[in-house]
Amino acid sequence: MTALTAQDVGVTLLERQVVDGVSLSVPAGTWLTLVGPNGAGKSTLLRAVSGAVAHSGTIAFDGVEVARLRSRERARLVAVVPQDPTRPEGMTVLDYVLLGRTPYIPYLGTESAEDLAMAGELLDTLELRSLSHRLVTELSGGEFQRSVLARALSQQAPVLLLDEPTSSLDLGHAQQVLELVDELRASRGLTVVSALHDLTTAGQFADHLVLLADGRVVAQGSAQEVLTEELISAHYGARVRVLTDPQGGVVVVPLRPGRSVREIGGVA
Ligand SMILES: Nc1ncnc2c1ncn2[C@@H]1O[C@H](COP(=O)(O)OP(=O)(O)OP(=O)(O)O)[C@@H](O)[C@H]1O
Ligand SMILES: [Mg+2]
Repeated sequence: MTALTAQDVGVTLLERQVVDGVSLSVPAGTWLTLVGPNGAGKSTLLRAVSGAVAHSGTIAFDGVEVARLRSRERARLVAVVPQDPTRPEGMTVLDYVLLGRTPYIPYLGTESAEDLAMAGELLDTLELRSLSHRLVTELSGGEFQRSVLARALSQQAPVLLLDEPTSSLDLGHAQQVLELVDELRASRGLTVVSALHDLTTAGQFADHLVLLADGRVVAQGSAQEVLTEELISAHYGARVRVLTDPQGGVVVVPLRPGRSVREIGGVA
């Protein structure tokens, strides 16, 4: 169980401040989701948290600053599903998933039976077993995205960063993947920080939402506090109707100009 805190975090890229004064607190075993329009700084903030990009301010895991961790220590603490991962040439799905075990394999050593068993289990869970000997360059977008998640989960880190992890997945696989992450959060106390474009889904899975715009936090709180028609209109320039789900959470429905949500039908 690992808590994550960010205090007054800033990131400057090409002399432009793309993350500016962001402070967050993610208690161990909870799920925080970043939302916000394209270019808001979500991926950059996640990259700062994983130590992939330099930042000002403080990012710490249980009080230990990320900047002080060696890369191997960091890899045991934080696993990442990047928004746009590269597909290594000539690598099978199995070997790709085993990359997640690298922080546990001794220098010049090879993977153990335990590493192979863990990779095999994840291949089953994510319905990749039949593809395990295929090259990652020869998978569909969604098959590869599930392989990236399998690799990240095989790292068995207490903190999981997910940058648009369902962008290529069909509805069924998207639900399956997010439910799996939520089960791991509940059973192993995984701390999850994700960026999600689908606002209804974001509200369904996060304990806490943070709306970023121009690198700054403009709202945070529960789905009902953050996913309002006013905030979505102001920051996304989108016309939406936000419906309250009687079972909790909200449903964000995009609207065509001149059409009311009643014409969409069915949603109460
Ligand atoms: N490597 C880079 N060099 C320079 N500028 C960058 C780099 N990566 C991102 N940016 C800029 O930083 C800003 C934030 O980008 P970022 O990728 O964090 O946005 P995002 O919120 O993840 O957007 P999206 O919803 O499109 O994924 C953007 O203006 C982007 O153009
Ligand atoms: Mg992004």
